[in-house]
Amino acid sequence: MLDIKQSALLKTSSYINGNWHPSNTTFDVSNPAIDEVIAQVCDASVEQAILAVRSAKKAFKAWSTMPANERATLLRNWFNLMMEHQDDLARILTLEQGKPLAEAKGEIAYGASFIEWFAEEGKRVYGDTIPSLSAKQKIVVIKQAVGVVAAITPWNFPNAMIARKAAAALAAGCTFVVRPATQTPLSALAMAELAEQAGIPAGVFNVVVGQDAKGIGEVFTTHTDVAKFTFTGSTAVGKSLIKQCASGVKKVSMELGGNAPFIVFNDADIEEAVKGAINSKYRNAGQTCVCTNRIFVQKDVLASFTEKFTDAVNHLHVGNGIDDNIQIGPMISSEAVENVTKLVNDSIKQGAVLNTGGKPHKAGSHFFQPTILTQVTQDMPVARNEIFGPVSPIISFDTESDAIAMANDTEYGLAAYFYARDIGRVWRVAEALDFGMVGINEGLISNAAAPFGGVKQSGSGREGSKYGLDDYLEIKYLCMGGISD
Ligand code: SIN
Repeated sequence: MLDIKQSALLKTSSYINGNWHPSNTTFDVSNPAIDEVIAQVCDASVEQAILAVRSAKKAFKAWSTMPANERATLLRNWFNLMMEHQDDLARILTLEQGKPLAEAKGEIAYGASFIEWFAEEGKRVYGDTIPSLSAKQKIVVIKQAVGVVAAITPWNFPNAMIARKAAAALAAGCTFVVRPATQTPLSALAMAELAEQAGIPAGVFNVVVGQDAKGIGEVFTTHTDVAKFTFTGSTAVGKSLIKQCASGVKKVSMELGGNAPFIVFNDADIEEAVKGAINSKYRNAGQTCVCTNRIFVQKDVLASFTEKFTDAVNHLHVGNGIDDNIQIGPMISSEAVENVTKLVNDSIKQGAVLNTGGKPHKAGSHFFQPTILTQVTQDMPVARNEIFGPVSPIISFDTESDAIAMANDTEYGLAAYFYARDIGRVWRVAEALDFGMVGINEGLISNAAAPFGGVKQSGSGREGSKYGLDDYLEIKYLCMGGISD
């Protein structure tokens, strides 16, 4: 049905301790573009989640003590297999998630790049020696894998959000248990199949696919065998998971919601700003945590930016992501379309002006028209909330300090973007924005070499880059006495 070359990649049950685990009940996975069931997946129980955690614990000693270069070879095999099967993996991803096939291929390469990156980076987990305050002692610092890592990942990047966490965890010597979103389990299970083919030992990488979010979440956040919990998803859910982790004082990292400002100053290259805004807003139909959420444009370039941006948005091709030349696929569900419709309508009631789009799209029940709202103000629903859809609210401003104040006026602090050419302004604004990541004259900022993560209520910890390993390592201080004779 999925029309993939390697049927072995289509798995429909949880992968625990190197085995595929059937269960008595199943749930449907649907293609959001056509709202049709594409697979039925075994619904894992809480007991199976516990089994996965225990298996990861059992596998931890051998994996964490394996020399880093041997772990790197296995990770490199995994990377190679993902790239070898990029077309099939992308097809599975588009069919369960909806994003255009070209974007899905990009996501597979993006996910695989974390595995490649951390295969290398895991070889460079250095310790330290520190000059001692006493002649009788030496201070030595070593870094060790934290233990079993449990993860919950979202539907918007069914491959890359798992790869970004698992690659760092495995490279550091941790073992890993993930619950992928139930809308998009097939990509995660295909990754497990390739991990097995790559030679990653049983118990090191486990995928638990189950609808009991609460029960499985409780196992992942409270089981004594879990040392660290990591989550990508909404701030509201992240907060309650952090609370659950508190009872066992687990190490936690969180990649949560965003409300990214995109600021166009009057010295910006407007053509480039338009390209950047299209990339950062309409990627994945606006369903990423780093998607532009509010566009601030300085008054003297408002008309020219809005005209060019509207023209570009009106040329975006909307449709089933599996078809050629599609740039905007479906949203994940009809509820998502309803949420976006409400944000747009409520903002119009408060004075926003519809420039283009604004309605569900005729392509199907999960589609929404690429939309621009002008004359938006900071207090409107479309500016206050994370939109997670293809809608651009444009807010005008007078001065640099007005733009900075409005951009920072949010509880979120994940990504921000701005376009300007004046070097003094570039530095001032970059420093003043309260966000973990800032794109300067650039709308696409994510890659394996860069630290991805937020401040304020957008989370804690960093993924990717040399910093991405730190979240999976403990620092141990060895005080060596008996040195002087
Ligand atoms: C996300 O939406 O959380 C991830 C986006 C990215 O990796 O660029």
